[in-house]
Formats: sequence, C-alpha cells, structure tokens
Amino acid sequence: MTAKKPIPLSRPHYPAALRKTIASDIELILESGRLMSGPWARKFEERFAGLTAREHAVSLNSCTTALQIALSFVGVEGRDVLVPAGSFVTDISAVQFAGGRPILVDMKPETLALDLEDLDRKITPDTCAMIWVHLTGVIASDYDLILEFAAARGLFLIEDASHAHGAAIDGKPAGSFGDASCFSFYPTKVLSSGTGGMLTTHHPELARYAREMRMFGKQEGTGEIVHHGNDWFLDEIRACVGYHHTGELGTQVAHRRMIAERYTKELANHPGLRLLDLSPGSEPAWYQFPVFLAPEVDRAALIEAMKTKHGVETKGIYKPTHYEQIFRSLDDGTLKVTEDMLDRSLCLPMHAEVDAADADWIAAAVAAEVRALTV
Ligand SMILES: Cc1ncc(COP(=O)(O)O)c(C=O)c1O
Repeated sequence: MTAKKPIPLSRPHYPAALRKTIASDIELILESGRLMSGPWARKFEERFAGLTAREHAVSLNSCTTALQIALSFVGVEGRDVLVPAGSFVTDISAVQFAGGRPILVDMKPETLALDLEDLDRKITPDTCAMIWVHLTGVIASDYDLILEFAAARGLFLIEDASHAHGAAIDGKPAGSFGDASCFSFYPTKVLSSGTGGMLTTHHPELARYAREMRMFGKQEGTGEIVHHGNDWFLDEIRACVGYHHTGELGTQVAHRRMIAERYTKELANHPGLRLLDLSPGSEPAWYQFPVFLAPEVDRAALIEAMKTKHGVETKGIYKPTHYEQIFRSLDDGTLKVTEDMLDRSLCLPMHAEVDAADADWIAAAVAAEVRALTV
C-alpha cells in the first residue's frame, strides 16, 4: 500500500465559503478600527454560552489563561489541587502559576477518565479544587460520580474541555459541568481561532473576575486596577474567526464521528489493539482517535512504518505529564495506569480532510502494520 497523499494527524478546516465570509468580516473589523472589546467577542461569547448551556462565557487569549483565572479566583495559593497525570502540561503549570500545589491523579484504563479511588486516596485537608479533563474528547461514563466527588468534598471543579468542543454525555454538553469550564482554540483543536480560549460558568462573580483579569485587572464600573491582571482578552480578529468556526461545529463533529465509526469498524476486534470503552450515552467530539497497542507491538516502529510506508502521521496522546523534566518531582510512583495507557497510545488522523475512503485505508494500513510487527 502506498499513500495517495500524505495525511497529517490534524488540520484546522475552514471551508472555502466560510473563508470568504471571514475575510470580508476581517476587512470590516480593520476598517472600523475597533480591534478589541467589540461586537465579535460578544457574539462569540453568546454563541459559546448557548452551546454549553451556561449563563456566562468569557473569551480569553488561551485555555491556559482560563485555567489560571479560575484557579486564582478559587484562591489555590498554598493549597492542593487534584490534577490528572494524563493531560496537557498547562493543567499543571496553571496550578503552579496560581501558587497552588498540583497532586497528580491516575486514570482508569478502559476510559482514560479520572480514577475515583485514586482521587479519594490523594485528597488532603488542604485540597480546594480539582481539574477534570475530557481527554481525547470523550466525557467519562461515570461523570456523575466525578461531580458527586467534587460536590461532596466542597471542591471547586474546573472542567478542561479543550478536547471536547461539541461532545456530550446523556445529552449534557461539555463545558456545562464545571464550576468553571475552560476551552482552547489552539490550531490543532476541533475549533480554532488561531489561538484563543473561553471560560464558561454559572457563577456571575467568576465571569466578572475573568472579564476584569483579562483587562489588566481593571474593575468594571470604577476603572480602578484591583487585581494583578494582564491583557488576556481575545482580540476582535480572532473572535471573528472563532465565532464563524463555531458555526461549523455540528458539521465538523459529525464528520469526526463518521471517521471514528470507520476506524472502529475495522479495528475494534483486531489482535494487538484495543479501543476506548464508550458508554451508550456518550457522544464524543473525537479530538483524537486513540488506539492502544498490546505490549508486544513496538509503537515507535509502527509510527515510523505509518509515516514512511503510507505517508500517514500518527502519534501518542501525550507523554504522562510527570515524565516532563519540570514535573518529575510530582511523580509519587502511583501513576502506573497513566504511564501504561499513554505509552501504548497511538492517535490516528482526525480532521475534516480525512474522508470515508481515507479512514478505511488508514485503518487497513494500521491493521496490516500491527500484524507485521506482532509476528
Ligand atoms: C487538555 C488541554 N488543556 C489545555 C491546553 C492549553 O490550551 P491553550 O494553548 O489554549 O492554552 C491544551 C492545549 O493543547 C489542552 O490540550
């Protein structure tokens, strides 16, 4: 098998008609001279609040900023925050930026969701918050137990929905679960504004704090500087791109689900591979489509074969965060499932330019290479 064309792992997609609309709206923004705090940020926020069934959405320059604002609102300084070890590094650095102590929690092998027993083991009298990530765009099937855990212990729940634009479970959308919910519009994400972020919440005081923090800490109403803020707002150009891209969310997520279905059909019972377990009410966004290789399959060799023989880019979900030099001291030796699952994970291309035939072809190539590497 040889690739018809190189297939990247991810690629932001703006259909031609949408690109035209965006270009003409950006022309109007430039002509107006209003590059910040204007109608596009408001429109984007309203659209996002609607999508996540929240009263408030505050646009920001990144998800990391949203996390940092939520954490400083809670006041995590000098206190403990539970964070999944299997996530993106800024879930941990945001806690440290806000002066808190991250405590890493392991995952469940079937779903990659937070391990409730490990949460229970790791909570301390000083724990005031926890971060919950919908890794790969799948919401945990035991989400109600996660919500209950946080509520019963009085923890402020920060939902990192950066992988989950458009995901839902039992009809409830990602971004509707946390006290604060944070999204990223980084270029690899399901939706992108170039870079950018959004914080959604039902707490009016948090929404106000976020609006003040993104504007140098300036108090609404008085204009006095009352917080150590920053210029963390999303400018009008990126808000315009994000607003229009969000209008495409339904189509883009449906396309991702179609690809996931084709991959699943070919690979679900393939020797040497395992897929995520999904509950019946789960509607993933499929930011990534991971397979998990049996221990005897050499992942590096498989990635290389997919690239050189088939022109297909693949990669692991993430390194476990505690493998990173700066976070090594957070490894308490208990994060074994995260290590095992992430070390054996392999994500297949997932974006609007992978069509049904590509998906079948990629899945067949993975299956053939796994067979070859297993022998
Ligand atoms: C789960 C998760 N959280 C946070 C971030 C950080 O997002 P941003 O680059 O918008 O700060 C990312 C980005 O890749 C992510 O995947």
